[in-house]
Amino acid sequence: MFKYNCLNPISQVGLDYFDEKYEKVDDYKDAEAVLVRSANMHELEIKDNLLAVARAGAGVNNIPSDLCAEKGIVVFNTPGANANGVKELVIAGMLLASRDLIGGISWVNENKEDPNIQKVVEKAKKSFAGGEISGKKLGIIGLGAIGVRVANAATNLGMEVYGYDPYISIDAAWSLSRSIKHIKNVEEIYKECDFITIHVPLLDSTKKMIDKSAISLMKNDVVILNFARDLLVNEEDMVEALKNGKVKKYVTDFPNPTVAGVEGIIATPHLGASTEESEINCAKMAVKQLKDYLENGNIKNS
Ligand code: MLT
Repeated sequence: MFKYNCLNPISQVGLDYFDEKYEKVDDYKDAEAVLVRSANMHELEIKDNLLAVARAGAGVNNIPSDLCAEKGIVVFNTPGANANGVKELVIAGMLLASRDLIGGISWVNENKEDPNIQKVVEKAKKSFAGGEISGKKLGIIGLGAIGVRVANAATNLGMEVYGYDPYISIDAAWSLSRSIKHIKNVEEIYKECDFITIHVPLLDSTKKMIDKSAISLMKNDVVILNFARDLLVNEEDMVEALKNGKVKKYVTDFPNPTVAGVEGIIATPHLGASTEESEINCAKMAVKQLKDYLENGNIKNS
C-alpha cells in the first residue's frame, strides 16, 4: 500500500480513490506520493523515499524540479484542468476594469439605509459610468490551455483577439482557436492592444517581462491582466506606470504589498483556479497520474 500526503487541501472528490487504496500519512517525509497546490517545496527536505509529486495546478515553479529529476522523482502537473476557472476570472477582470462594479457596489452598501437612495441613483449612475470591452483589442501572451480559452470567450464577447506565443506557429494557433485573428510578435501586441493578458509560465526568460520598457511600447490607458505569476511583472514599474497614467488598470491575482491598495490596481488573492469545478478536475487528474505511475509505471502528464 502506497503512502501519500497532501501538502495543501486538495478536493476530496478527487482523492476518494487514494483514500480507499492508499494510506494517508501525516508527515510528507514518510510519503511515496505527494500532492501539492501552492506550498513552496523548495523550502522542504526532499527524502529519497519520495517517488512522485503531483501539482494540482499548471505551474510547477513551487517544486524543485531539478532536484527531483536528480533523485529520480517524477513531477506531474495538471495542464488544462483549471483553465476554465482561470478563463472566467480573466473575463471578469476585464469587465471589472471597464465597469466600476466595485465602486457601484460599495456605493449601494454605504447608502443602503438612506430612505432617499432612489433619488440619488441618477447622480451615482454618472459617476460610475464605464466602457465596453466589445470592439476592443485583446492581446494574449501565451496560447496554452488558458490563453486559447480566453481567446474564444473574448471573441464571443465581441473583442478582436491578438495572440502571441514563441513556441506556437500561426497555423498551430489557428488550429487551437479560429478566433485568434492576428498572430503578431509580442511588441506588436504591446503597441496595438487595449487589454493585454499574460498566460505564460514563470521561467528565466519570462521573469519580469512586463517592465518599464515593455510598458513604454504600450498604448496609453492600456489594461494589463496577470492571472499567471506575480514575478512576470516588474511591480515597481507597474506602480509607476499607473501613477503617471500610462496604464489605466492592472488586474492581478497576486496581492503583493507593492501593488495592493494602489489606485488603479484590482487585486485578488490568487483566485483564478479557486472554483469547485477546477479544484475537482485538478485533484482527479493529479490522482490519476500518480496512480498510473505508482501502479503501472506510466508517466502521462494529462
Ligand atoms: C496554477 O498554476 O494552475 C494555479 O496556481 C493553481 C492554484 O491556484 O493553485
